Amino acid sequence: MPSNRTLFATVLRCAMSVAALISLMLTCAVLTACSNKKPDAVALSETAQIGELLFHDVSLSASGAMSCATCHAASAGHAQPNALPAQFGGAMLNLQGTRTAPSIRYLNETPPFHFNAEGKAAGGFFWDGRANTLAEQAAGPFFNAVEMALPNPAALADKLGKASYAARFQAAFGRDIFLEPDATLAAVTKALQSYQLEDPIFRPYNSQYDLFLQGKATLTDAQQRGLALFKDPEKGNCAACHPADVRENGKPPLFTDFTYDSLAVSRNAELKGNANPLYFDLGLCARSTGDLVDRSELCGLFKVPSLRNVALRQAFFHNGQFKTLREAVAFYVQRDTHPEKFYARASDGKVNVYDDLPQRYKGNVNTEEVPYNNVRGGTPVLNDSEIDDVVAFLQTLNDGYSGALKAR
Ligand code: HEC
Ligand code: HEC
Repeated sequence: MPSNRTLFATVLRCAMSVAALISLMLTCAVLTACSNKKPDAVALSETAQIGELLFHDVSLSASGAMSCATCHAASAGHAQPNALPAQFGGAMLNLQGTRTAPSIRYLNETPPFHFNAEGKAAGGFFWDGRANTLAEQAAGPFFNAVEMALPNPAALADKLGKASYAARFQAAFGRDIFLEPDATLAAVTKALQSYQLEDPIFRPYNSQYDLFLQGKATLTDAQQRGLALFKDPEKGNCAACHPADVRENGKPPLFTDFTYDSLAVSRNAELKGNANPLYFDLGLCARSTGDLVDRSELCGLFKVPSLRNVALRQAFFHNGQFKTLREAVAFYVQRDTHPEKFYARASDGKVNVYDDLPQRYKGNVNTEEVPYNNVRGGTPVLNDSEIDDVVAFLQTLNDGYSGALKAR
């Protein structure tokens, strides 16, 4: 007979190992659950994990109701989740911005802003390329008066000091980090950049088209025709700016060549700023960095966006003028053949072509290249059913395709 004490010890040891077993089982269950949710989950660095918390933290805004994820929702391919031409922000969420919120997926290969070998503007973040890195970009929204609207980095440090993860932030960046607002801001933007660069959710490359390129999915007849028209230099010629082929380095296409162009998207009366007839969003030449003010040939140019996940959008182009993908595609081919469909009439009854540009910059509009190069009254390079086919193809670019062919 063991003594009471040894009996007690044995029971205790047994209980402990049962507890250990249960906790092990729980861990397994949790891990399985997690891995079911995120099949490609990779371990994010501590900095990137903090970035993920920052990305979703509404307390870092003057309104207390807006985070990066408000305007870059995962459900919308990390773009704006609504049809507004620009979101409402500021302390009372009643101030409208000036441009649509782009998808922020597939940006990891965006080069800094530069002029390329042909002298064309290329690279950079935002519709006008004014930020050179994702970290530089991330400083913008916090202090933009029509977005998160904090007055200064000190306010950001103050709010962060009260966040549930403040101690974790200090452990990563230093105990005194909140005493130095500029250092806090640098850490915040670095963390947001790391999150966007490390988390594969920002570039899963698992659309129907990606799987098609890998031979793991098929395209319908309409999608196949749309792809051919998208690439055909005499028809859509879309791939001239939105490349669709596997790249020379073997990587999947990004659907942007990072350049800029003037499409002359028509003026959007829904944008509050456009109530002033003298206000024009001139894009590249008027960007807030002020470095291109003397380059009038760059007025009216905006960045070529990737078309991945574009079918998830509800407002297209920098000013959200078109609400359906079909209208956006039709605009390309009918802009110059049927301008009355897109542009308002001036007081003399004439169609005011390229109405969102002052007269002196209308010469910057791209009219030479296919698919624009067609005169008024001419035949658009794509007819109605061809437009439908291109739209059908663009719908293959959404991430998370679930219809992959089963391995035989
Ligand atoms: C109120 C809505 C709003 C909020 C909040 C917001 N953004 Fe944006 N974001 C936009 C808009 C609009 C643009 C395009 C602005 C422009 O081009 O002038 C943009 C552009 C970007 C871009 C550049 C995309 C490209 O193609 O170059 C990135 C990256 C980005 N945002 C990340 C963030 C991060 C990180 C946060 C949080 C710190 C954030 N955004 C908060 C609306 C928002
Ligand atoms: C010469 C370069 C060029 C060609 C060719 C071109 N695009 Fe674009 N595309 C752009 C630029 C620049 C923008 C952004 C313009 C803006 O917002 O003012 C854009 C934007 C778009 C958008 C809106 C994306 C968004 O996020 O709102 C769609 C859709 C689109 N293009 C589809 C096409 C299709 C389809 C074709 C072929 C019929 C095509 N593009 C041909 C340069 C081009």
